[in-house]
Amino acid sequence: MKIILSPNSGFCFGVKRAVDKVYKAIDTRDDIYTLGPIIHNPQVVGDLADKGVNILKNIDDIEDGTVVIRSHGIGHTEYENLKFKNLDLIDATCPYVKRIHKIVQKHWNMGYDIIVIGEADHPEVMGINGWCNNESHVIYSANDIENLPNIDRACVVAQTTILQSKWDDLVAKLHTNIKDLKVFNTRCNATHIRQEAAKQLAAKVDIMIVIGGKNSSNTHKLYQLCKERCENTFAIESAKDINKNMLDAGEIVGVTAGASTPIWLIEEVVETMES
Ligand code: F3S
Repeated sequence: MKIILSPNSGFCFGVKRAVDKVYKAIDTRDDIYTLGPIIHNPQVVGDLADKGVNILKNIDDIEDGTVVIRSHGIGHTEYENLKFKNLDLIDATCPYVKRIHKIVQKHWNMGYDIIVIGEADHPEVMGINGWCNNESHVIYSANDIENLPNIDRACVVAQTTILQSKWDDLVAKLHTNIKDLKVFNTRCNATHIRQEAAKQLAAKVDIMIVIGGKNSSNTHKLYQLCKERCENTFAIESAKDINKNMLDAGEIVGVTAGASTPIWLIEEVVETMES
């Protein structure tokens, strides 16, 4: 069996930066909380829990300690609440997501409607929405555009992980409906590069393995893209999910991993398949 690892698999810059910040904090602080799971990866979250890092569901639930804001970012009001409580803050919001917050806040203040192309219930999108008074229009399909109210001028941004094809399609449709449309393609390049590499690999292997958390949106999109090109594509969370049947379909196996999959977990999967 030949195993080929797709380039740019696993942790992206923003996720690595966030996870590193938490591990660094463990060395110097007690009472560390992450505002939601730091990444969509149960193995990493479990390791941090073993080291005493707690997951905070609600800012109201603590009065002191260190709070880490994850790479997805948070809304303006949540920032204000954290500052008001005088908590020790570690801001691990990905700089690319921060840029979206600034674009949204600026255009909202200038009187533009805000349109976010993304998943309404994704924490990144909820955070973005928090920079325009939670009044953005979140769309994910052409149908959503038909349900928009009449808008004279709008600023449109993207959830960092959405597919280029979805962005192109929906922005083209928005142009026909809205006269003054300011377009900021805020898709993340790391995602694009990972997706392109995975697509190319999936097209030439017999079996494709996509590693990542079940709740990871970017892993799910990677799976979809690979499945379109390789019928024998399987999504797994860790080496434990590998079974012999998966590897029956051929000799050449491609491996890719979502942005929240650490390198040690990818190595474990490759070693398990090899053995
Ligand atoms: Fe940031 Fe892109 Fe990763 S937005 S968190 S570097 S996928």
